Amino acid sequence: MQTEEIRNFCIIAHIDHGKSTLADRMLEYTDTITDRKMQKQVLDKMDLERERGITIKAQAVTINYRDYELNLIDTPGHVDFAYEVSRSLAACEGAILVIDAAQGVEAQTMANIYLALEHDLEVIPVINKIDLPAANPDRVKEQLLEIGIDPDEAILASAKNGTNIDKILDAVIERIPAPQAGADQPLKALVFDSFYDSYQGVIAYVRIMEGSVKKDDNILLMSNQKSYQVDEVGYFGPDMTPKKELTAGEVGYIISGIKDVRNCRVGDTITKKERPAAAALPGYQKVKPMVFSGLYPTDNSDYEVLKEALEKLQLNDASFTFEPETSEALGFGFRCGFLGLLHMEVIQERLEREYDLDLVITAPSVEYNIVKKNGDVLKIENPALFPDPAEIAEIKEPFVNAEIHLPEEYVGQAMELCQDNRGEFADMQYIDQDRVTLSYKMPLSEIITDFFNQLKSRTRGYATLDYELKGYEKSNLVKLDILVNGELVDALSTIVHDDNSYQEGNYLTRRLKEVIPRHMFKVPIQAAIGGKIIARANIPAMRKNVLQKCYGGDITRKRKLLEKQKEGKKRMKQVGSVEIPQEAFMAILERE
Ligand code: GTP
Repeated sequence: MQTEEIRNFCIIAHIDHGKSTLADRMLEYTDTITDRKMQKQVLDKMDLERERGITIKAQAVTINYRDYELNLIDTPGHVDFAYEVSRSLAACEGAILVIDAAQGVEAQTMANIYLALEHDLEVIPVINKIDLPAANPDRVKEQLLEIGIDPDEAILASAKNGTNIDKILDAVIERIPAPQAGADQPLKALVFDSFYDSYQGVIAYVRIMEGSVKKDDNILLMSNQKSYQVDEVGYFGPDMTPKKELTAGEVGYIISGIKDVRNCRVGDTITKKERPAAAALPGYQKVKPMVFSGLYPTDNSDYEVLKEALEKLQLNDASFTFEPETSEALGFGFRCGFLGLLHMEVIQERLEREYDLDLVITAPSVEYNIVKKNGDVLKIENPALFPDPAEIAEIKEPFVNAEIHLPEEYVGQAMELCQDNRGEFADMQYIDQDRVTLSYKMPLSEIITDFFNQLKSRTRGYATLDYELKGYEKSNLVKLDILVNGELVDALSTIVHDDNSYQEGNYLTRRLKEVIPRHMFKVPIQAAIGGKIIARANIPAMRKNVLQKCYGGDITRKRKLLEKQKEGKKRMKQVGSVEIPQEAFMAILERE
């Protein structure tokens, strides 16, 4: 294919403004997908994504329209996957910016525009949902003008009714520049996603920036200098369709017997062994997990199943790590590393659904650097493994630079939230009349708790959050231990700031009292720092008549109840003589 006939683009939108619906319509309109095959929102493949309405993994599809090859690259929409988004955008020359005609420009719209500008993309504004009675395209046009986008360029559309889909496709051809690429240059292919298939090995999603690649070529991954022979190249139509060659400007896949996604990471450059490119494409980063937690099967006999499941998941996810860990309270499990909380939840849910496991997951932690008095330096991501406070000279924790984009009216709430989470104000900039960017220095451990959700709820969803690791700094931290029924439960230990330790201890004991079920005996819950008890609450014993009322002696009813419990995941762990439910391990995240 001549590069003049290729267009590479993505669709960006604030949540629910109609990105997936528009993508579907474009595929239907161009017969890329027949009606019968058309599932709702084909681009979001995983069930989980569909249910949560979020896009986790980037996907690509090639659309043939008017003798042009249009490559639509889907991008994930969550802060945990910011790096994948940046690589997807790097594979495009243009973006369709979808704006809801009734909602207008929102914070994520702004964040998306910045991203698009950063990657030098041609932006096509689409005002969607003009079929809605509340649609007000004129107001949206005014907003566009305010943020520096020519309103005359906006296309009015209804993805739902299929109105003006052809105009959008035409604009993709007419306005987005063709890729500028030399087909005769040495191969440079940008990996913008990769996944593992048990039959074919790793499938690399690539944008060919320069050169070309075909079957039997010897390719070289530039970050790790590993080489492989190409088994197949092709494009997504949307199913994987083999092709003789992928040439400069095109988007498709390369299969080459790579057995591990960690050898073919997002952002890497693929070149040829015989005629390598002089330099890799800019921007490669090996994304590392930032958040760690312990994963334990509620039933110890599921340990091997869990191990196999984790191995399988890791095949497909280069940013997820795990290693065996033991807890006195929870037994044998794994310490797992994730990009962020959403990533953690997604993996937990996949393990429970796809492998039918019942799991308990401990509160997420960051990696701390501990300097001991004897000069040893430890890197610890499990609070339970913290050394005795008497041995510690100093504790360093990771800090991030956080940027929050939001409408001015929510600045007060957002600042308060940052301050409550040990944020240190750095800067505030007006983007336009009523939009602001706040910059804060914050401990990563505060961001990974409920921060993102809280920010969203305090700003009615308008704020967006971006953060990057700044480095490690000394903090006044202590380990908060929890004793249940007089026994220290290592998996409930957390690291807190000394200033908040009493408050946290108090909150945790009260919260645990609520979530741990009553037993036949009284269960005291205590919080302790360095062996000193700082807070206490008691779970009263269950009274006999309560039990009778519950089960009533009717054996069939009791059995039914038990079976019902069995169906739903139990997520409960027997620790000594006390049963501790999943909520207890996450209590620290909720805070007050
Ligand atoms: P995320 O993937 O969650 O970011 O959302 P999205 O931007 O992909 O939005 P999606 O396509 O899922 O659409 C959100 C809702 O808007 C759905 O209920 C759609 O049916 C509806 N919707 C999309 N386009 C239109 C439209 O043109 N008119 C109307 N009335 N509804 C639309």
